[in-house]
Amino acid sequence: MQNSISEKEQFEKIPTILYPDADAACTILATEIRELIEARDAEGKKSILGLATGSTPTRLYRELIRLHREGLSFANVITFNLDEYYGLEPDHPESYSRFMREQLFDHINIPKANTHVPDGLVGRHEVFEYCQKYEQKIEDVGGLDLQILGIGRTGHIGFNEPGSSRDSLTRLVNLDALTRRDAARDFLGVENVPRYAITMGVGTILKARKVVLMAWGEGKAEVVASAIQEPPVDSLPASFLQGHPNVRFLVDNSASNALTRVRHPWLVGSVNWNPRNIRKAVTWLSGKVGKPILKLVDEDYSEQGLAELLTEHGPAYELNILVFNDTQHTLTGWPGGKPHSDDTHRPERANPHPKRALIFSPEPQDDLLGLGGTLHRLIDQGHEVTVAYLTSGNLAVPDADAIKATELILDAAEVAGDTETGETRFAHKVQDQLRNKEQFSLDTPEIRRLKGMIRRGEARAACLQCGLPIERIRFLDLPFYEKGRYRQFMPTDDDESVVATLLNVIQPHQVYLTGNLADPSSVQALGFKIVESALNKAKASPWFSDCFLWLYRSADREWNIHELDMSVPLSPDELANKVKGIYQHQTQRNQTPMAGQGGEVWKLAEAADREIACKFDALGLAEYEAIEGFQRHQ
Ligand code: F6R
Repeated sequence: MQNSISEKEQFEKIPTILYPDADAACTILATEIRELIEARDAEGKKSILGLATGSTPTRLYRELIRLHREGLSFANVITFNLDEYYGLEPDHPESYSRFMREQLFDHINIPKANTHVPDGLVGRHEVFEYCQKYEQKIEDVGGLDLQILGIGRTGHIGFNEPGSSRDSLTRLVNLDALTRRDAARDFLGVENVPRYAITMGVGTILKARKVVLMAWGEGKAEVVASAIQEPPVDSLPASFLQGHPNVRFLVDNSASNALTRVRHPWLVGSVNWNPRNIRKAVTWLSGKVGKPILKLVDEDYSEQGLAELLTEHGPAYELNILVFNDTQHTLTGWPGGKPHSDDTHRPERANPHPKRALIFSPEPQDDLLGLGGTLHRLIDQGHEVTVAYLTSGNLAVPDADAIKATELILDAAEVAGDTETGETRFAHKVQDQLRNKEQFSLDTPEIRRLKGMIRRGEARAACLQCGLPIERIRFLDLPFYEKGRYRQFMPTDDDESVVATLLNVIQPHQVYLTGNLADPSSVQALGFKIVESALNKAKASPWFSDCFLWLYRSADREWNIHELDMSVPLSPDELANKVKGIYQHQTQRNQTPMAGQGGEVWKLAEAADREIACKFDALGLAEYEAIEGFQRHQ
């Protein structure tokens, strides 16, 4: 689904191609790499590739491995990686050297001597010379034919953080605080993330004959748009790519969200004025000119680039009323539908009542963050609610909490006067394993079990806070999570069949799900895909035709008002109750990537819900304390 470059991209200073998802983009890029390798082979030359690590290129590497299995040879390929954490052994689970072996090199026929990843252990005094030699090695083989890049939320490419100059070369650098926080999950805590790294410079990257940057997921949308559309500045190193003669950005739908052609398409060209786009334009206009919807006049529309809309659907008065009513109709205190009432303009059907609602939470706590208030409402209004936790979430529990839990088991045994039980043996075993655990090594199955139990306890307490009886909770412990680690999960059909079985047992009238716009390697995005594909297979089941699918979002994902199909207002008490529920997830207070970006996660959730209410207020709709938003998924 390649869009040709046209006047639509006039704001964009780097050729940018939108793909429906990361897989589609990676298939095309892998083919391009195959063609490069084959063309170079035919000329009797080596292909020189610059490679990246992280979540972004994993799909590309899987595709290259697939092509290798189909016959593509990497015998004449030489690779140079962008960067490596400084101070990490090459076998450290988070070292980029190990990443490359596990994700690519061990699965293709590239000679080891042809692969280069900066050495994170080179001594401080030798670093300068080492980096110069790295540059020289690239020069010696004739320079990079193609450099693959991801982009960090700071705008870094490689580890060239804000402040890096356009001419910078391979060197030792400090990592930005945001970059370290983004890596905190992988390193099991921000304190374990190295402070330094060796990275190719911006200048090194710009010397490559071709550069392709990939970005997936909504979390990258803002930085991608700035890099492509804003003037190049050293506070956003990726923007220096604008000067490169052969560069391309590949983005999935969600990472393209902040590009002008997507966010404000009327500023770029002609628009298909469907109801969603009309709402998008009018709510944007209201914010832009600082007036409530019903006070917008024709001049506001024409002066802000919406003359076409005015001509097709105006005058302003008509448009204002249309969008005001549409937005008003999304508001409901009855997320399961209001029984015995006219539901023509309500987001949910009145019947059947009560409904069976099934809430999928990728990890424990996503549910509370996204819809803690709505969950409470659904239960209060008599619906049969089930919360299903897709994964155990055990990877996000600090060791200290596991130790506390073992002590509790042992104390309880002592109180019971029986210290030689299966439980105490289990607790002692876990204590031994934790004591002998090396930094960053994987948890044993027993430790993971215990950590999973801790999260179950927290999830139960949180659900109770929202009024959900604990027998209505399902812990699915999907296998992909139990077998994997962050960024490297590989779901299989087994995951889908667990979800499919639950769907068939519950036969829900409503399904709540999240993660559709998330980074494709995140638990949220993988969870979404698994549920979606189980739902797709259920399409023929009679219950499916009477089931509404509702998308919700975690605290770090902002809703725009035009995206909402159902907006559930929360009273101050309901908001406070939701926060208490989130608070039950005690092990998570400092664990989520969001924590640290301005407070604990419950504060972010509270602020996000209040923010939606403020947006409604500013549009001239009713003023509420807080609102949880939902979009109907077709
Ligand atoms: C990795 C690298 C970094 C990453 C960037 C995005 O070698 O140089 O610039 O590309 O941090 O990371 P992910 O892909 O994990 O979102």
